Amino acid sequence: MTAALHRVHEFSWPLTQAAAAQAALERGEVVVLPGHGVTLEPDERPLLDADASDGRAKNISFDVSGDRIGGAALDSEKLETARRMMRRFAGWAQALVGSLAPGYAPALKLGKTSFRPCEVEGRALSPRKDDRRLHVDAFPSQPVQGRRILRVFANIDPEGRPRVWNVGEPFSAFAEHFAPKVGTPSAARARLAGALAFSKGRRTAYDQLMLGLHDTAKQDDAYQASAPRQQVGFPGGSSWVVFTDATLHAALKGQHALEQTFFLPVEAMAEPAASPLRVLERLTARRLA
Ligand code: SIN
Ligand code: FE
Repeated sequence: MTAALHRVHEFSWPLTQAAAAQAALERGEVVVLPGHGVTLEPDERPLLDADASDGRAKNISFDVSGDRIGGAALDSEKLETARRMMRRFAGWAQALVGSLAPGYAPALKLGKTSFRPCEVEGRALSPRKDDRRLHVDAFPSQPVQGRRILRVFANIDPEGRPRVWNVGEPFSAFAEHFAPKVGTPSAARARLAGALAFSKGRRTAYDQLMLGLHDTAKQDDAYQASAPRQQVGFPGGSSWVVFTDATLHAALKGQHALEQTFFLPVEAMAEPAASPLRVLERLTARRLA
């Protein structure tokens, strides 16, 4: 049976309780801002079409610093419009995190921006790639070396349909269950696995363990069927912020979202002890990054 969870915390905008919002994030809750969203320009609205995606990648992704876009099937004019939309969203998301957690700003690094124009429900994917299954985020090609993964989402569905997620149990309980099953790799083995996967940057034992937790949880049918969860619908026009490396999540349903990824060193947190790096180091009695 599913236990009652309180994994989602609503705040109103403009934010008057930044410290409480940051504390909620660090506890692993999803910080939701109902009614605080992104408004599209008229020429951006036609982008809201599943055909904007090339159908191979799950999302259209954009690297703001390199101006590189991937996964899109758009003509050059629409491609430029998509770039502009995502550039603007990246700035918007940065400002949002700046008000929510001003202390993160000096250490926060901007990652990829994504545009998600495809319906999540009914997408046929292998269990390991299926984000409808509860998981924590870990990137095979991009090691984080212990840093946090912080993500800002905005529901831009023009019909206002909610994006529906399940949010799972606290990371410590999840890690206690799965870390012994995954086993802790040595630093050398993690580095070799990263080299074989052509990862960008050195893969640490932390990255290897997090990938193991991601894959093992998604492939565990019993866990997927019975793990504690809270279902939540993020309304059209809302935004939400979450450390997706620690907060178990599954996207069940919804179309048309923007997402911005950030990386944060654990030392920039008010409570570094709550980071997955420190939780896993306590559990394994090892230094992992
Ligand atoms: C995910 O990070 O698992 C997907 C979230 C989403 O697209 O809503
Ligand atoms: Fe995810």
